[in-house]
Order: sequence, then structure tokens, then C-alpha cells
Amino acid sequence: MGIDVDQFDALNDPADDLAALKQLVYRHRIVVLRNQRLSPAEFVEFGHRLGEVETYYQPMYHHPEHKEIFVSSNVKKDGEQVGVPQTGKFWHHDYSFMPRPFGLTLIYPQVVPAKNRGTFFIDMAKAYAELPRKLKDEIAGTRSFNSVRRFFKIRPTDVYRPISEVMAEIERETPAIAHPTVFTHPVTGEPLLYISEALTYRIENADGTPARDGLVEDLFEAVGQADRTFEHENIHLQTFDKGDLLIWDNRSLVHRALHTTTYEPTVSHRVTVHDEYEFYPGINAS
Ligand SMILES: [Fe+2]
Repeated sequence: MGIDVDQFDALNDPADDLAALKQLVYRHRIVVLRNQRLSPAEFVEFGHRLGEVETYYQPMYHHPEHKEIFVSSNVKKDGEQVGVPQTGKFWHHDYSFMPRPFGLTLIYPQVVPAKNRGTFFIDMAKAYAELPRKLKDEIAGTRSFNSVRRFFKIRPTDVYRPISEVMAEIERETPAIAHPTVFTHPVTGEPLLYISEALTYRIENADGTPARDGLVEDLFEAVGQADRTFEHENIHLQTFDKGDLLIWDNRSLVHRALHTTTYEPTVSHRVTVHDEYEFYPGINAS
């Protein structure tokens, strides 16, 4: 999994090169563009060149000058928190709790920690291919429900609010969303398993009845998302250096941040992009 690209000019390479770059992302899942020197405005512009940029629904994550950039940071600027610290430390796809997730995630680390650097990934197309026949049969035709409720981060403005009120607001603003448990990648044609430990809490049969108790946990176990040692053969740790810009396939990959165990400054910028393909076949039909 993953391929390095040394010579790429994010702002000036022609459209053909961008199309070829996206094909590399779909085929290798992760592309690392080395030696990039983009300002925040240029990073956003690169996102626009790849497709329709999605701005995160919660303003507390926004870059102060460029709302299209999601900031993960534990570094204060002039005494103020910018973005949100300690993001994504759980298995997830970006935006799977939304009705229309995006195909591409771009991460551009700004301050890189010396240790505990990287992001864990699992290729859920490969994981699906290797599932036991019995589990594949059990999930055929099912839908999975995803909700942000367990990992929603309490905002500074939530302090002194009753927890029940905050929880009711989460259900109102981001109600649970159903997606097919297995869908076909629109570019590679591979079937992939679209569930994540942080967000998927229920699997439903085609007739609306609940799937058997324990099915979702059995799936997490089989694919490696239940492994707390991170030694499962499906788990890949992608590291990066300053100047790297990572682009990954947010359909086939589930990911999880690796956080520093002792404090080290770390800042990362993220831009997310809808590519020109439906997220999965028929997503816009309902
Ligand atoms: Fe993420």
C-alpha cells in the first residue's frame, strides 16, 4: 500500500497529470507527494484542482483564514487554540456519518512530531476479499448505520450545557446514516467493506430486520479493527516527513491517527475532495 511521487507540481502540472495522479491514488490507496511547499491558500487551490472541496461542517476545526482547511493541532498560536487537538484516534472513514462522503482525503502535515509519527490504515477492499465466506454471505445486501455520536468532540461552547441537550443536538444535526455494508469501488471495480469501529453501530438486513447480534464485532475482529496491538497483518502504518502531502482513497481505506504518547507539538492541515465519481453506485438515487 502507498506510493511516493517525487516530482509533482501541485499547482502547475496539467490536468492530465492530475487525472493520472488520482488513478495512482485509487490503485495504490495512498500517494505521498514529496517536497511540497504550498501555502494554505495553495493547498486549498490544489484541492479545487482535484474536485469539489468539502468544508467540514463544524467551524471549530476550520483554519482561521481558509475554512476549507480542517486543522488538527495541539499548538497554541498567540495563546489561542487553532483547530482541534487529538483528532481521529479511532478507526473511521472521513465523513461516513454524512449522507454524501467524499472520495479523497488530503493531509499536509505542518509540524511533524519526532516520534509516534504516522497514521494507521486498513485496506477494506483487500479485507473484504479475505473475509470468510460465511461472513460475506451474512452481509450480502445489508446496510450499515453510522453515527458520529460516540466520538463527537465537546466544543468550548458546550461547557455548562446539559449532556442530554448536546446529545439531542448531535442526533438532530447529524442523524445516523445508512450506507451499503459492501459496495463496488467506482474506479477499481473492487467490492469493499464500508464499516468502521468508531462510527458503525448497527447492521440491518435488506428487509429492515437487525442482523444477528455480534456480526459487526465479528467483522471488526476479522479485518483488524479490533486489534489493540496494531499488529494485525491488515494494518499498515504510513509515516511522513515535513514537506510530504498525503492523498488517500477514502472509499477503500479506513484510518486511525497515531498520537504521541508524550507531548510533542503536531499540526496537520486537511482538505477533502469529492472526485468526479459517485461515492458508491446509486448513492444519489434516494
Ligand atoms: Fe480522518
